[in-house]
Amino acid sequence: MEELKNALSRLFEKDIIRMTVSNRRSRTEDVPKVAIRPVKLRGRTLFQFERIINNQAFHENLSREDAESAVFTLLTREYRQLDARAAGYDISIKLSKKEKLLYSEKKTQTQNEAADHNRTKKYILGDGEFSPVLCELGVQTKDGRVAAPMYDKFKQINRFLEFIDDIVSKDETEEFKIIDFGCGKSYLTFLVYEYFMKKGRTVRIVGLDLKRDVIEKCRDIAARHGYGGLTFEVGDIKDYSPAFSPDMVISLHACDTATDFAIYNAVSWGARYILAIPCCQHELNLQVKKSERLLSSYGLIRERYLALSTDAIRAKLLEYSGYDVSVMEFIDLEHSPKNIMIRAKKRSAPVSAERRTRLLGEIEDFLSEYNVTQTLHTLITKK
Ligand SMILES: C[S@@+](CC[C@H](N)C(=O)[O-])C[C@H]1O[C@@H](n2cnc3c(N)ncnc32)[C@H](O)[C@@H]1O
Repeated sequence: MEELKNALSRLFEKDIIRMTVSNRRSRTEDVPKVAIRPVKLRGRTLFQFERIINNQAFHENLSREDAESAVFTLLTREYRQLDARAAGYDISIKLSKKEKLLYSEKKTQTQNEAADHNRTKKYILGDGEFSPVLCELGVQTKDGRVAAPMYDKFKQINRFLEFIDDIVSKDETEEFKIIDFGCGKSYLTFLVYEYFMKKGRTVRIVGLDLKRDVIEKCRDIAARHGYGGLTFEVGDIKDYSPAFSPDMVISLHACDTATDFAIYNAVSWGARYILAIPCCQHELNLQVKKSERLLSSYGLIRERYLALSTDAIRAKLLEYSGYDVSVMEFIDLEHSPKNIMIRAKKRSAPVSAERRTRLLGEIEDFLSEYNVTQTLHTLITKK
């Protein structure tokens, strides 16, 4: 088996993207395959072994050395095949019935693949990686592919997760606390929870939504999968009082002014991070009548202008409340027309009184020019 050891040591020197060990030696083994992927944990690269048993994922994180010897043991005792994708290579190792080693290594498009790997590696769940919960929610098929009708949702939640990953990988808070407002069926909520689990980090997440039946389903799924740090509550964002102070508040497409209440709560509770993708910003449009003014003359233009103004007001109010704010494109328009992300991080230094006055002045000039009120402005200034 020296030959196998050498093959594995050559393999582990490469920039591995993922590996699968399969082809059971005996049908009595109850795990058809073991998926292995590199994960970053407190600055170290470890290899995460994932086994799906009775629809539940079990993870084990091993150092490179331990992973190499665990793969050796798997291949000599339980399985006969390993397929690996590394940057620039597809590698396959097979052990025949007579224990003869068959090794194949194919070059792939090195430059493009490495670039692709870098671009997609932030995805916690690549196409082909299996999440039992996302399968149950219909986002994935049983073989780990993205279900075609759910492709846009899959892109959205993965993109959202990239933003979360950017924050969490630089923040070592021991027990991260998150509230997901307007969680709905909770595709994102489950994905975020699984992301923390895969990273080996402790997290508490609450998903809140108005819909009792949807929340009951989410509770049932979380309980069956043993997701102890993930709870779901029925309620209205505007009356919600949390059991903990969240480090982060997220909301993905919380309708109309629900986003304002989500942001207001996050600010009042001193959340350090706020990530909101607003949707159906109707509030201002309902108050502004058609007029001869340039941006109010045509329904479609008026609606878009006032939706953008709503998000600009929200961003400015976050700055006013002591956050560094960026407004960025969330996702290509082809995957969702609701493509603005408001991202806010609490500043350590306060905003000067002069700047606060200027920010509020800009907002209030707009509101009085159009003779409208805006929910987040009303909440923050208590007018
Ligand atoms: C468009 S769905 C988005 C669901 C989920 N975040 C997603 O992206 O798949 C909006 C959700 O927000 C919930 N919602 C709207 N207003 C709410 C409020 N005031 N309090 C709690 N949930 C609310 C709705 O019930 C709905 O499930």
